[in-house]
Amino acid sequence: MQIPQDYVGMPRAEIDTPALLVDMEALESNLEKMAACFRDAGKNLRPHTKSHKTPAIARLQLDAGAIGITCAKLGEAEAMADAGISDILIANQIVGRRKLARLLALAERCNIMVAVDHPDNLQDLAAAAQSRHTTLRVLLEINIGHNRCGLRRGPQVVELARQAAALKGIGFCGLMGYEGHIIDLDDSSRRDPGARDCLQQLVDTRADVEAAGLPVDICSSSGTGDYYIAVTYPGITEVQAGSYALMDAAYARLGLGFRQALTVLTTVSSRPAPDQVITDAGLKSVTPEHGMPLVRDRDDLECHALSEEHGRLRSTRGPVTDLQLGDLLEFIPGHGCTTVNLHDQFYAMRNGRVEAIWNIAARGKVR
Ligand SMILES: Cc1ncc(COP(=O)(O)O)c(C=O)c1O
Repeated sequence: MQIPQDYVGMPRAEIDTPALLVDMEALESNLEKMAACFRDAGKNLRPHTKSHKTPAIARLQLDAGAIGITCAKLGEAEAMADAGISDILIANQIVGRRKLARLLALAERCNIMVAVDHPDNLQDLAAAAQSRHTTLRVLLEINIGHNRCGLRRGPQVVELARQAAALKGIGFCGLMGYEGHIIDLDDSSRRDPGARDCLQQLVDTRADVEAAGLPVDICSSSGTGDYYIAVTYPGITEVQAGSYALMDAAYARLGLGFRQALTVLTTVSSRPAPDQVITDAGLKSVTPEHGMPLVRDRDDLECHALSEEHGRLRSTRGPVTDLQLGDLLEFIPGHGCTTVNLHDQFYAMRNGRVEAIWNIAARGKVR
């Protein structure tokens, strides 16, 4: 991907749109807030990079104290390793001959860990590792209520842990769980006890495995919505929160104290009626599954619909008199992670100018 470096230094008003912006001061404030929390607690942060997919941001997280990164997909991990990042958890199952070959190639150039929840997958990982005379580190994924992947607490977990610890080619490192059904609940009087309940299931499972004589070095969990519970929860060793770096409109509703760093810059392209504003960012620039984008600093405007290439705004206060064709607005995406995945580059902004252009190297890496 050719990065247009001639944009560096350019004022915001000259950026062609739609464009993904990151407000550097907000990003730095978010990274420091999270890093300080983990420093104070003496716990490890392993941020999920699916939220930004950008090695330059992962590097800032590591510089701020993160012990490594989390990825959702092998392709994301490859993109991060290509950028020199060396400690990566793929918090997902790697299944199939082609992917196992790629995983093993990756394991030869960085410190990789993968999630496992099935004995067949474990055997395949072991066989692949043995054939390359190497060892793959694994975490057993535990279903702590999200009902996505993972084994429920019980004898089957202890049995899989025994197999993992015994198999040549496998390094059994511990457990992970993800309480995705809890972390984005707006109401903290439901979110907080829900998170504690999930984490207790993970910690109880840890105790089961340890009671069988198997050391559990890592117990990994949680996201932006409940990191503040996980960070001091006894038995949890590391936290996978990632959205905190950039934030989005859905997470903003939780009032977590992180600043909005991510926006989509968009140009007014049509004014079909006094109370209507059309912009050039639609579904191919911003995703709506967690809610329509908000318009930054314009509570008089609401985005009521997105077509493929049009954002359709209407006024909540009568005619809009201050917006002409060519004027710029910023959308705050409802969901940051999937919005980022639509773009090739971030424009890192400071004091109204482009400070850097970052390649979103893991964008589209769904394999
Ligand atoms: C496995 C896993 N861990 C952690 C997270 C948390 O990320 P966030 O910071 O977006 O809440 C996610 C989000 O989808 C996830 O899938």
